[in-house]
Amino acid sequence: MSRLFQPLTIKDVTLRNRIAVSPMCQYASEDGLLNDWHLVHLGSRAVGGAGLVMVEATAVSPEGRISPADSGFWEDKHIQTLSKITRFMGEHGAVAGIQLAHAGRKASCRKPWEGDDSLDSDQGGWETVAPSAIAFGNNIPKVPKALLVDQIQHLQNDFVDAAKRALEAGFQVLQLHFAHGYLAHEFYSPLSNQRTDQYGGSFENRIRFLTETFAAVREVWPERLPLTVRLSVTDWVEGGVTIEESIELVQRLKAGGLDMLDVSHGFVTPDIDSVPWGPGMMLPIAKRIREEADLPTTTSWMISEPIQAEQAVASGQVDVVSLGRELLRDPYWPFHAAKELKAEAAKDLLPLQYARAVE
Ligand code: FNR
Repeated sequence: MSRLFQPLTIKDVTLRNRIAVSPMCQYASEDGLLNDWHLVHLGSRAVGGAGLVMVEATAVSPEGRISPADSGFWEDKHIQTLSKITRFMGEHGAVAGIQLAHAGRKASCRKPWEGDDSLDSDQGGWETVAPSAIAFGNNIPKVPKALLVDQIQHLQNDFVDAAKRALEAGFQVLQLHFAHGYLAHEFYSPLSNQRTDQYGGSFENRIRFLTETFAAVREVWPERLPLTVRLSVTDWVEGGVTIEESIELVQRLKAGGLDMLDVSHGFVTPDIDSVPWGPGMMLPIAKRIREEADLPTTTSWMISEPIQAEQAVASGQVDVVSLGRELLRDPYWPFHAAKELKAEAAKDLLPLQYARAVE
């Protein structure tokens, strides 16, 4: 019997299978508002059979966007379009999740297909903020302003307000983006955080922004609904964050109410030469964290074959597999995987409109 197609219940939420759509920026919003593109993009992946569909990194403030075309949740007006999307996904059996983010020093950039580089203020960009006034470098040379303590608290409130809006919009899974070199990760990594106050220096101080933000959001996100974190658990670079300290951080977040960890990596510096790229590269690390922190995990990164996904779940590496690019190639990957694995679930995954016509 397929483990990949066994339902999973976390708190009061049940996923119909162990397949999640990894959050993926579409760079298709205006003023933070999602639109018909997102309804079709996310809706197709719900129709295709995924158990959990994560909405892309959604900025908690306008300055927290990677590009001017990012999704946002900084005003109540954003609730309406997102409600339409969560409703549609729910009608097609998928649990709707959203990732809340602030891009820190990697904000104010062009869309990837327009260069992916820093946008100046006279080009529609804005001044960026970060723990320290250190630029990312390479394609993002813009030097951010170091945040003052009261600005940090303001930003944490933005996360809280966005979480409240996510609840109102019907999301059932909330994820805080603490990965990929964006603001929270910039606080966590010594490579980007050289503060000398309570938010920098020691491990305790570098994790303060993350643990405080998590605790503040947990207070407003209902206990009955899963709260997850996406964390870059290693920077792969000398002097950066390590898996050992990430396990310590995850244990603390778990004690504060973390329900699942999305195990990710890197991108706090432009240096990606040392990344061990390869199929399922994060699965052994996800397993280690799952065991040592005793917490459900998911991970993405080059999981593409149904048998690989099945084994990842069956062997206890992860509780859920997250797929990004493979689900862009094929929104019906869950249906195709169920057929290939001869899972009973295949017959119920497609909507009736298709199922009666497709074997
Ligand atoms: C991404 N990724 C990503 N990650 C994240 O945490 N938030 C995001 O909004 C995005 N945006 C995004 C857009 C696009 C177009 C891609 C391809 C990727 C990373 C993504 O979630 C995933 O972790 C990686 O793509 C690796 O998984 P795959 O693609 O190998 O399955």
